Amino acid sequence: MSKKQPKWLDDAIFYEIYPQSFCDTNGDGIGDFNGIISKLGYIKELGCNAIWMNPCFESPFGDAGYDVSDYYKAAPRYGTNDDLKRLFDEAHKLGMHVLLDLVPGHTSWEHKWFKESMKAERNEFTDRYVWTDSIWEEPEGMGCIRGISERDGSCAVNFFTHQPALNYGFYRPDPEKKWQQSVDDEGPKATLEELKNIMRFWLKNGCDGFRVDMAGSLVKHDEDGKGTIKLWQNVREFLDNEFPEAAMVSEWGEPDKSIQGGFHMDFLLHFGPSHYNDLFRCPEPFFSSRGKGDAYEFVEKYKENYEKSDKKGLICIPSGNHDMDRLARHIHGDELKVAFAFLLSVPGAPFIYYGDEIGMNYVENLASVEGGYGRTGSRSPMQWNSGKNAGFSTAEEDKLYIKLDPDMNRPNVEKAVSDKGSLYNEIKKLISVRQSYEALKSKGGIEFIYAEKNKYPLAFLRTSDSEKILVVINPSGREASFESGLVPAEVLYNFGEKITFENGKITVPPVSAGYYKVNNE
Ligand code: NOJ
Ligand code: CA
Repeated sequence: MSKKQPKWLDDAIFYEIYPQSFCDTNGDGIGDFNGIISKLGYIKELGCNAIWMNPCFESPFGDAGYDVSDYYKAAPRYGTNDDLKRLFDEAHKLGMHVLLDLVPGHTSWEHKWFKESMKAERNEFTDRYVWTDSIWEEPEGMGCIRGISERDGSCAVNFFTHQPALNYGFYRPDPEKKWQQSVDDEGPKATLEELKNIMRFWLKNGCDGFRVDMAGSLVKHDEDGKGTIKLWQNVREFLDNEFPEAAMVSEWGEPDKSIQGGFHMDFLLHFGPSHYNDLFRCPEPFFSSRGKGDAYEFVEKYKENYEKSDKKGLICIPSGNHDMDRLARHIHGDELKVAFAFLLSVPGAPFIYYGDEIGMNYVENLASVEGGYGRTGSRSPMQWNSGKNAGFSTAEEDKLYIKLDPDMNRPNVEKAVSDKGSLYNEIKKLISVRQSYEALKSKGGIEFIYAEKNKYPLAFLRTSDSEKILVVINPSGREASFESGLVPAEVLYNFGEKITFENGKITVPPVSAGYYKVNNE
């Protein structure tokens, strides 16, 4: 199977925008497309050249927009389809690319397809969702909507109760259960064709690809993912033919599977087998200066995935996202800088969650907004300056979509930009170093040279045909060292005290990081 690699992905550095909370230009307390357009220059200045925007389509917003009610229409609260197209155009003018968030697994229960599928009489949408054929039978292992339809049956849900599961069929339908359709039945085939229509629509309108929500969940009872992989290979063929430059990044968390499915990159997530949480979000994170963390399991799993995905830089390690705690809830100050020295030196495109570049906090004890629950604290309004509502909106404070961080000393962009020692400026420096060396970019190779159980530092080589770059990271508050004959030819980046190379030993000061060009043997 061919897989065209969009060239632009090689050096893409993404900035994730939660549109609700980024910038409000019409004073209604919620972010909008015009707000994003007005901040493209800021994103570019940081060094990011690509954007992933969370769902921005018509929705009752029971799950912040991951409950779509019309895939072909921008949510009016953000603007019109034309405004969204303008966002694509303006981004392109700056040499930036934009990924939309595609939610293929479920819709809102307010979607017209679902309303039609609830009718007793057969119609075009009867098989669009996964329905049992009796209200008394529940689809096992899935949760369901029951008792609200004229139709006799229960409908499987994918996430919240109001998100009915679209029907892409079952990997091995149970012959005793006639309602379980096969992936080759008409209903599932029509759902897949409609998914392609949606993608075609937005790609024609100028978007550059998709971050795909719960990409591994489409075919049901598909434990090894084989049915879902095959489905995405079908989509891959369509993209190769019609939109070879479109990028596909999956929320799957199992790169070996998603890459087979034709995705260009896959996220490591705060759930699943990756041990990503060991790094930043656990009682003793590896990136805490307490120095009690352990990156060993993470590295082992990473290596396994890396092998399985043909040693390509296809694994994305995000700084955070709208579903997990803010990085700054667990690590602080220089710890954040060292964390970014890691995040910006690993293969796969980096993803910076809006506000992480200024160390925005997780806002504690917020009431849930739009299905956010504990995630709400990571979705608070972007802090631009020291003015009203931190420059996010001119609305009255009680009209803001989510409450602002109440901390008097909350960080903001204005302060961060003018402070030479800020996290923002460190990230900017790191990005410019990354972009100057092929070996450090997404597709450069990685070889771990020191990643021992319960030990610091972490060291790895990044490689390209002509370069070899050693990355050494010591988040711990204690000096750490390891045996290595590597000799640096040039310092490319350094944070903290100087790392020393002597008699086959590399000694790394507390809370420091360095990138070094080393000679090819
Ligand atoms: C993953 C998304 O990132 C999350 O925000 C959403 O609630 C679920 N998928 C359901 O779509
Ligand atoms: Ca607005």
